[in-house]
Amino acid sequence: MSANRKSGVFITFEGIEGSGKSTQAKLLASGLAAAGVEVIATHEPGGTLISDRIRALLLDPEHTDMDATTELLLYAAARAQHLAQKIRPALAAGAVVICDRFSDSTVAYQGFGRGIARELLDAVDAVATGRLRPHLTILCDLDVRQGLQRNRNARKRDRLELEAVDFHEKVRAGFLALAHDDPGRFHIVDAAQPPDVLAAEILARVKKVLWDSAK
Ligand code: TMP
Repeated sequence: MSANRKSGVFITFEGIEGSGKSTQAKLLASGLAAAGVEVIATHEPGGTLISDRIRALLLDPEHTDMDATTELLLYAAARAQHLAQKIRPALAAGAVVICDRFSDSTVAYQGFGRGIARELLDAVDAVATGRLRPHLTILCDLDVRQGLQRNRNARKRDRLELEAVDFHEKVRAGFLALAHDDPGRFHIVDAAQPPDVLAAEILARVKKVLWDSAK
């Protein structure tokens, strides 16, 4: 699994609130590290000092008057810094980078959720990422009410979680549409399954991608 690779492998986790993707991203990172793979685990928005400061602006529940374009540009700014400072250097060094959320979240939340046109999202994404795409994206799919309930139980209430159920339904539909359009990159998992069952399924898929990338 840790065969010699000249450049790294970029794996992202996506899903609605409470889908368990952050737990699964961490389990995958520790599973790969235990197998001797050089792995960097990170998340968006965040992952660097500057991106974490932008995250605090984005998620502050007091910022209910944030304009949708401002929101889009802040996510993009956090991502540009994250790529420059952390993701691209790690990939260039041959690491496996596991990122909890990336550009697909922008299409799902700011596009499908807020209604910003796809052409505008793609133009901003081109500036922020140079159109870098993950090799593999694990979509943790879950019923919206179940996910929101999980977060209420965990007392997680940031600005986006305060949106109506309808908003989160659009976000979920957005993720599923993205996965449908790019089945080669996306792997959809049923996030209602027990975490250990889910982790085993994800690890099997990731091993295959790492194996193929090392050929
Ligand atoms: P998290 O709860 O997974 O840490 O993500 C933070 C919130 O930011 C979550 O509600 C999803 C949202 N988000 C967007 O709206 N657009 C984006 O591009 C990203 C990365 C996250």
